[in-house]
Parts: sequence; structure tokens; C-alpha cells
Amino acid sequence: MISAKTKACCLIGDPVEHSLSPIMFNSAFKEMGIDCAYLAFRVLRSELGTAIAGIRGLSFVGSNVTTPHKEETLKYLDRLDPSAGLSGSVNVIHNVDGELVGYSTDGYGAIKALEEGGVSIGGMRIMVLGYGGAARAVSFELARDGRAGGILIAGRDIVKASALANGISSFLRAEAITLKEGEKAGADLIINCTPVGMYPNTDESPLPPEALASATAVMDLIYSPRETAFLRSAKAKGCKTIGGIEMLIHQGAKTFEIWFRKKAPIGVMRRAIEGEGN
Ligand SMILES: NC(=O)c1ccc[n+]([C@@H]2O[C@H](COP(=O)([O-])OP(=O)(O)OC[C@H]3O[C@@H](n4cnc5c(N)ncnc54)[C@H](OP(=O)(O)O)[C@@H]3O)[C@@H](O)[C@H]2O)c1
Repeated sequence: MISAKTKACCLIGDPVEHSLSPIMFNSAFKEMGIDCAYLAFRVLRSELGTAIAGIRGLSFVGSNVTTPHKEETLKYLDRLDPSAGLSGSVNVIHNVDGELVGYSTDGYGAIKALEEGGVSIGGMRIMVLGYGGAARAVSFELARDGRAGGILIAGRDIVKASALANGISSFLRAEAITLKEGEKAGADLIINCTPVGMYPNTDESPLPPEALASATAVMDLIYSPRETAFLRSAKAKGCKTIGGIEMLIHQGAKTFEIWFRKKAPIGVMRRAIEGEGN
């Protein structure tokens, strides 16, 4: 029951109506007996600064940040954790007694989802499709982790792909290629960080099935639909497949741990979003 003592957390982004985060977090709060409510707010770009100031002004525990604000949020914060500083992307704000600290848990969520899915990235040649916020978070976390053998950043704009590859090349061998080149490049693990194949364009795929010839595992960050056309063709080729819902759960669990310094009830969070959406 919401009372005068109830704390608050939120999601800010545009759009947010599709988000599974309120269901996931409110179930976790209930399970753990935490008196807190999680709400989703659609925030226009022009109001981002005032929305973030409100987190401090209203003493919110913190906030998640989603598209299109993950990068611009940096300039409104007091301090950045290395996860956010390195990737230049924030998806979690923690309000520590009025000091707003930014984190990125997307990369952590992706690597944890791979591990839990039985994919061991040690020595792997990994192809990341896209160079947007999620691709940056995943690539920098792979670079920080250091176990991968190398990264190919494949995108439709080679200049933008090169900018990301250059950024991570001091940590890990990295190369930029076009998506067309990506069709023949060959990689052990391919991670789709583009929205190609997302609802309602569910017949689309970022690469044709032939591009999966040398892959042993394929991950798609998209979670609507749960199984994309890209993952279906990977499965048909005998690859291990990991969907975006697992990353969503693990980045959420890490967020919970940052806010409450308690282990997240992952099973409850997973069950809460199972059956939601498509
Ligand atoms: N599972 C999770 O927890 C989770 C977390 C974060 C994100 N995601 C998902 O990851 C995806 C990307 O999110 P984001 O925040 O990184 O978005 P973003 O910052 O807008 O980046 C999108 C990337 O995809 C590329 N792209 C867009 N349309 C394309 C097309 N038709 N063909 C080729 N490339 C295309 C963009 O390249 P251009 O600049 O050339 O357009 C850009 O590199 C979304 O589907 C999102 O839902 C999932």
C-alpha cells in the first residue's frame, strides 16, 4: 500500500508505455518488503534537465533512463561510475543524499545473460551490430571484461562504426566494418544491437542467414518479440541463442543492487515479466 513513507523510483524516456521495468521492479519491491513505488514517465528532450533535477528535488531513490536520453543525461549528473564514464551512456541514476551518480548496467546485463546462457566469451571473435547507445554499452563492457579475442563493429555508417571501434581499441582488438562486410566477416558470437527485427517489423533481420555460418552463438538485444527472425535463423543453423529479455532482467537486477545494496530477487523479476508483451 502506498503511504506517506513510500519512496519512489522511476523510468524516464520517450516512449515508455511499452516498458516492462515497472512490473519487474514493483514485483521485486513487494517480494523484498521494500516500501517503494516505480513509475514510468515520458520525458521530452527539452524537459530532460528539469526531470533529472526532480529526482533530487523529490528525493527519489533513483531512476532508469532509456532511449533517447541515455547519452544526454550525463551532463546533468554530479558523478559517473566508470561503467557510464567509459561508455558515455547512462541507464541508471542513483540519488545518494542529493548527489546524482550515473551508471550503465546494460553492458553488465548483456555479459551476464551470455554467461547464464552458457556462452563463454573467452577468446571469441565477437561481431557487434550497430554503434548506438546499447552497442556502446555492450562493447565497452566487453572491452573492460577483456576476455574476448576481438570485436568487429558492423554498421551501415562506417564513420560512426570506426568511432566506436577506435574508442575501444586501447582495451581490445577492434575493427569497424560495414553491415555488408559483416555478412562475410565470420564471427564466433554475433550480438544484434540495432532495432532491426523489433515489433512491428518482425520479419526483418540485420543479417541474412548465410552470415551466421561460423557463429556458435547469437544474441539479440530486442525483447519484443521474445524470439526475433534473426534468432530463429540462428537456431535453425544450430547456434546457441540468447534473447533480449535475459539482458533486461540482469541489467535490472544490477540496478536494484545499486539502489538498495541488496541482492535482487531475479526469479521473481523474471516471472513478473514472463507472459507480458509478446
Ligand atoms: N534487452 C535490453 O535490456 C535492451 C537494453 C537496451 C537496448 N535494447 C534494444 O537494443 C536496440 C538498440 O537500442 P539503442 O538504445 O542502442 O538504440 P540507438 O541508440 O537508437 O541505436 C540504434 C543503432 O541501430 C542502428 N540502426 C537503426 N536502424 C537500422 C537499420 N534499419 N539498419 C541498420 N542499422 C540500423 C543505428 O544506426 P544509424 O545511426 O545508422 O541509424 C544505431 O547504430 C533496441 O532494439 C533496444 O530495444 C535492449
